[in-house]
Amino acid sequence: MKNFASSLGNKHKFLILGCGFSGSFFARTIRKFGCAALTSSRSEKRDPNSFVFNSENDVVPDEKIFDEVTHILSCIPPDKNGNDPVLRILLNKLRSLSLEWVGYLSTTGVYGNTGGDWVSEIDRPNPLQKRSHHRLNCENEWIESGLPVQIFRLPGIYGPGRSVFEAIRNKKVRIISKKDQVFSRIHVADITNAIIYLLQNKDCLKFHQIINIADDEPCSQLEVIQYCYDLLGLKMPSPILYEKAKKELSPMAQSFWKENRRVSNKLLCETLGYKLIYKNYKIGLKNCFLNS
Ligand SMILES: NC(=O)c1ccc[n+]([C@@H]2O[C@H](COP(=O)([O-])OP(=O)(O)OC[C@H]3O[C@@H](n4cnc5c(N)ncnc54)[C@H](OP(=O)(O)O)[C@@H]3O)[C@@H](O)[C@H]2O)c1
Repeated sequence: MKNFASSLGNKHKFLILGCGFSGSFFARTIRKFGCAALTSSRSEKRDPNSFVFNSENDVVPDEKIFDEVTHILSCIPPDKNGNDPVLRILLNKLRSLSLEWVGYLSTTGVYGNTGGDWVSEIDRPNPLQKRSHHRLNCENEWIESGLPVQIFRLPGIYGPGRSVFEAIRNKKVRIISKKDQVFSRIHVADITNAIIYLLQNKDCLKFHQIINIADDEPCSQLEVIQYCYDLLGLKMPSPILYEKAKKELSPMAQSFWKENRRVSNKLLCETLGYKLIYKNYKIGLKNCFLNS
C-alpha cells in the first residue's frame, strides 16, 4: 500500500460516483493514502468532499467538480428504467476529460443461474432477472463508451455495518434452508483493495476489462448465519425450508434464491496475483464482529 500512496498520491484525483457502502469505503481508504477523492450522493451532505448528483431529478455536479479528475469509480446501479444514471447524464462530460481510468461496479447477477456450478469471466452472461438484463446492458454501454473502463462483477457485499450481525440485531434475519443452494460473497475491504492493487500494478499486469471480485468460498447462507450466532454465543433458531418460507419473502428476496452459482476469482487471485484479505466468510465475519 505504501507504493500506492507514492505512485498515485496527490497527482491523481478520484471521483467516486455513489458513495454508498462500497463507494464510501473506497473513498475513505484512498484518502488515507493521500489521494484526492470527491464523492457523490443524491442528497446534500455536510461532508465537504461530497457533492450532489441525482439522475432522478437531473441534478448534475458543478463544472468545477470535474477539474483535473483522472480516475472515476461508478458505484451507482441502473435506474428504474434500466438506464445507467452516469452514462445517461454525464457521458459527454466524462468524454471531455483526460481520464486515465474508469471503474464500474457491476454484479455477478449477469451470469444468471448455473445450478451451483462455477462461473468465470469467460462464460457467457445469461441473466435470469430483469434487473440483471438491465445490468448487462449498462455494462455494454460502459464498454462502448470509449472510456478506459474496467468492470468489476461483485457477488453479495458485506462488511462492518452491513452483515448478518445487523440482521440478527434488528430481528430481520431469515433462517432458511434450501438443499445445495450456495451464494458467493465479498468483503467490502477486498473490493477496495483489489481495485487499488490493479491500479497500482497497472503497468505490469495485462489489462482485463471484466474482473470478478469474490472470495474463495461460496457457501450456504445457513452456514454463514450459524457462524454469526456462534460468534455471538447465541443459539440459532431452527431453519425453515425454503419451500415453506418463500411465501413470506418479497419478490426481490425470492429472486436471489432462484440463482445458485459459485463465482470464480481465479482471474483476479491466480492470474493477476491479488491476495484476498478475507478469503472466506469466517475471516470476514470476525472482522465485522470486532468492528460492529
Ligand atoms: N449490495 C450488494 O450486495 C451488491 C452486490 C453486487 C453488486 N452490487 C452493486 O455494486 C454497486 C455498489 O453497491 P453498494 O451496495 O455499495 O451500493 P449502495 O450502498 O446502494 O450505494 C449506491 C449509491 O448510488 C447512488 N445512487 C443510486 N441511484 C442513483 C441515481 N439515480 N443517481 C445518482 N446516484 C444514485 C446512491 O446515492 P445515495 O447516497 O443518495 O443513496 C448511493 O450513493 C451498486 O451498483 C450495486 O448495485 C451490490
